[in-house]
Amino acid sequence: MAVKINENYLLIKSNYIFSEINQRVEKYQNDNPDADIIRMGIGDVTRPLPEAVTRKFTEAVQEMGDAKSFRGYGPEQGYDFLIEEIIKNDYAPRGIDLSVDEVFVSDGAKCDTGNIQEIFDLSSTVAVTDPVYPVYVESNVMAGRTGPMMDDGRYQKLVYIPCTEENGFIPELPETPVDLIYLCFPNNPTGMALTTEQLAQWVDYARENNSIILFDAAYEAYIQEDNIPHSIYEIEGAREVAIEFRSFSKNAGFTGTRCAYTVVPKEVMGFDSAGNPHSLNSLWNRRQTTKFNGVSYPIQVAACAVYSPEGRAEIRESIDYYMQNASIIRNSLKDIGLRVYGGVNSPYIWVKTPGDMNSWEFFDLLLDEAHIVGTPGVGFGPSGEGYLRLTAFNTLENTEKAMERISKLSL
Ligand code: MLT
Repeated sequence: MAVKINENYLLIKSNYIFSEINQRVEKYQNDNPDADIIRMGIGDVTRPLPEAVTRKFTEAVQEMGDAKSFRGYGPEQGYDFLIEEIIKNDYAPRGIDLSVDEVFVSDGAKCDTGNIQEIFDLSSTVAVTDPVYPVYVESNVMAGRTGPMMDDGRYQKLVYIPCTEENGFIPELPETPVDLIYLCFPNNPTGMALTTEQLAQWVDYARENNSIILFDAAYEAYIQEDNIPHSIYEIEGAREVAIEFRSFSKNAGFTGTRCAYTVVPKEVMGFDSAGNPHSLNSLWNRRQTTKFNGVSYPIQVAACAVYSPEGRAEIRESIDYYMQNASIIRNSLKDIGLRVYGGVNSPYIWVKTPGDMNSWEFFDLLLDEAHIVGTPGVGFGPSGEGYLRLTAFNTLENTEKAMERISKLSL
């Protein structure tokens, strides 16, 4: 008898969206070796790590090579020296009190947002915004919580909350109560942000319906406007109903270095089948101590340097650089009559495809005729059909070149 597989894997598309795009672009480049392709697809940064970060990183690597300062396994939850900096810099100034054992350092918000569902029952109902970062959906498909995909591209048991031009890409509260709600703001992929009042409605909803909000704040550093919350815990009552995910990838260039953290306040409770409450903080701690051995010491030292005065200044400069690109993209596309969203509090620009072109048609057109790679909106969910996402993470030079090429197309 052959080994049986987890058949839930058969319910997902054979390729992760960004792997699919890579394959197509690679094929295109092989067929057209002279094409100077500008990548504005995956949300990967291009600016190097800040100097303040690499300096500390290097010193910490040297420490590991010296018997006197060598360190073996660290705490699975992360070193206190980093967690204390996180609390002191990212939360305390916003009036949010956290204790050291409420913050879990990890190797990425992608892993944490994908893994968090493990601590919930398979019968939990799950709501996602549509379009959505595919990790939230696919990790629940793999776990067996969603049922099959239907003809309209939606999974049978997931609750989809459309974010469309009609509602200004602001998700409306679900009509029927749900257990788990994934929210990512500033949003990937639409680039739109929620105001404090808008996010407060979700916190109130979660409190009234005993739901838990899984809040992905990976793009928090890009917020430019006032009245956009940087953390869900700025909203009263959120400590009881929300888990927050943050990352050093997009603010400090750690996409290849890997460091992030997840906040699980001790008050957030889940219930066993007898109705007894259990702290999700303890469950997540239990999960991490079994399945994760912590982020390497040099990387945590490097992440700490993000909070140094020099580190902060360098990061601010990179974010301003990317946001200048975002504004160039927004303005250039508007000038040629396209409808564009996002890019104000986020490095993502969400573009309505011209005419009645679908997402992949527009993707192909940009690749063929302008050698530009975007991400087809439909890759983020059915409500993303008819859109394409561009990132502001390329260089200024490439961003300007890309916009020049697009403006020459007859769209
Ligand atoms: C994206 O392009 O959406 C990002 O790469 C997401 C991620 O950080 O995994």
